[in-house]
Amino acid sequence: MTRKLFIKTYGCQMNAYDSARMADVMAPHGYAIVDAPDGADMVVLNTCHIREKAAEKVYSELGRLRALKQEKAAQGERMIVAVAGCVAQAEGEEMLRRSDLVDIVVGPQVYHRLPELVARLGRDGKALDTEFPTDDKFDAMPETKAVEGPAAFLTVQEGCDKFCTFCVVPYTRGAEYSRPVSQIVAEARHLVDLGVREITLLGQNVNAFHGAGVDGEAWGLGQLIRHLARIGGLERLRYTTSHPRDMDDELIAAHRDEAKLMPYLHLPVQAGSDTVLEAMNRGHTADDYRRLVGRIRAARPDIALSSDFIVGFPGETDRDFEATLDLVREVGFAQSFSFKYSARPGTPAAAARKQVPDDVKADRLARLQALLDEQATAFAQDCLDRSIDVLLEKPGRYPGQLIGRSPYLQAVHVVAPDHAIGDIVSVRVSEVMPHSLRGELVSTARTPIAAVAH
Ligand code: SAH
Ligand code: SF4
Ligand code: F3S
Repeated sequence: MTRKLFIKTYGCQMNAYDSARMADVMAPHGYAIVDAPDGADMVVLNTCHIREKAAEKVYSELGRLRALKQEKAAQGERMIVAVAGCVAQAEGEEMLRRSDLVDIVVGPQVYHRLPELVARLGRDGKALDTEFPTDDKFDAMPETKAVEGPAAFLTVQEGCDKFCTFCVVPYTRGAEYSRPVSQIVAEARHLVDLGVREITLLGQNVNAFHGAGVDGEAWGLGQLIRHLARIGGLERLRYTTSHPRDMDDELIAAHRDEAKLMPYLHLPVQAGSDTVLEAMNRGHTADDYRRLVGRIRAARPDIALSSDFIVGFPGETDRDFEATLDLVREVGFAQSFSFKYSARPGTPAAAARKQVPDDVKADRLARLQALLDEQATAFAQDCLDRSIDVLLEKPGRYPGQLIGRSPYLQAVHVVAPDHAIGDIVSVRVSEVMPHSLRGELVSTARTPIAAVAH
């Protein structure tokens, strides 16, 4: 009998990857993915704990599930509700105790054990697993059977040892860990066999990746990228999220030499004041960041940079905030994500005395976002009339229209009735829309380079 499994994903790309793997783990047990929770036999909420608002969403979603769970029970069946991800790791035990809705709590390091947890439930029991085990969850998981499109995620590194004073990730995801090169290469090849053309390598600190390479040497992310780039049929590589401290020469050189490595880099700086950066425990100054950007741009002049920013970190003064605006003006970002500081339980900054009032945070965020929006628009305008390669990823709204991504990660809409999803086409950009570009086809699809390195 097929059972219906609904997975809702919050938070970062690593959670998106984990959700897909949870589906892989449950598939051999008869669970097939559905796109709505109504009537589902199992609902997994794969949660995020990064800011207060992210965590609150989980509780309101649980509220919405109550009626559906009751409906199912009225038919004599059970809707198993599992909470996974970072909220599960941080507050799962309490959730299980306090909510009659939650049946399973499973942490990000042990979701390969979901079938066991389901089996352990019995008729009306509950189950929790938030261990940080020593065995490798990736070894215990079945291969992905199908992919959603030509662009896929592949986790290469997990966890974080950096302990920025605002951040929950080192607590919810545990210590830094890199997957073995052979495992990563096998997964990348498998994805390409399933039709994937672009892989984004993921890690909470992806450029902290390190391991023994196929040549027996110690490899960093740069070497791993060079090696993966040799897989025939794989056309594009990206990686996220990087820490400025871990951008080594080899990785920067890969941006210069490796045509398959896309010219887009998410390199969060968080703030532009050295006092704030130090209080955040970021381990670099604003000038370190400026110099680093200089080296990256020297290697790859057209690279599009993106960043995360936090405004209103405890103790941030008007002058500190002005330093952030200065840094943004100097560097110039193609895209950015900015947030009001949110005090997270258990993190050092949450206990700081000088919390910034919410109205001040709101005001700073609005000013920063206005500047970042201006820069993002300028970057998009720069693409007008230029021809860019677009990997077609999904159908558009109109017949013949397809939506893909530029090398700079912009969504591009193009009418290309003779092309298929997975083709890379050249598009002349004719219009800048709020969150995407529109353009016309200028050439036929490039034939993929024949598989060589398989
Ligand atoms: N590993 C990445 C960030 C992961 S969290 C890095 O080191 O940059 C994604 C973003 O959420 C962070 O870059 C930060 O800008 C934001 N963030 C994390 N904790 C936050 C908090 N307590 N309040 C507001 N924003 C936060
Ligand atoms: Fe969080 Fe800092 Fe680690 Fe990024 S580097 S995950 S912000 S602790
Ligand atoms: Fe959120 Fe956890 Fe990712 S807190 S951002 S889901 S690592």
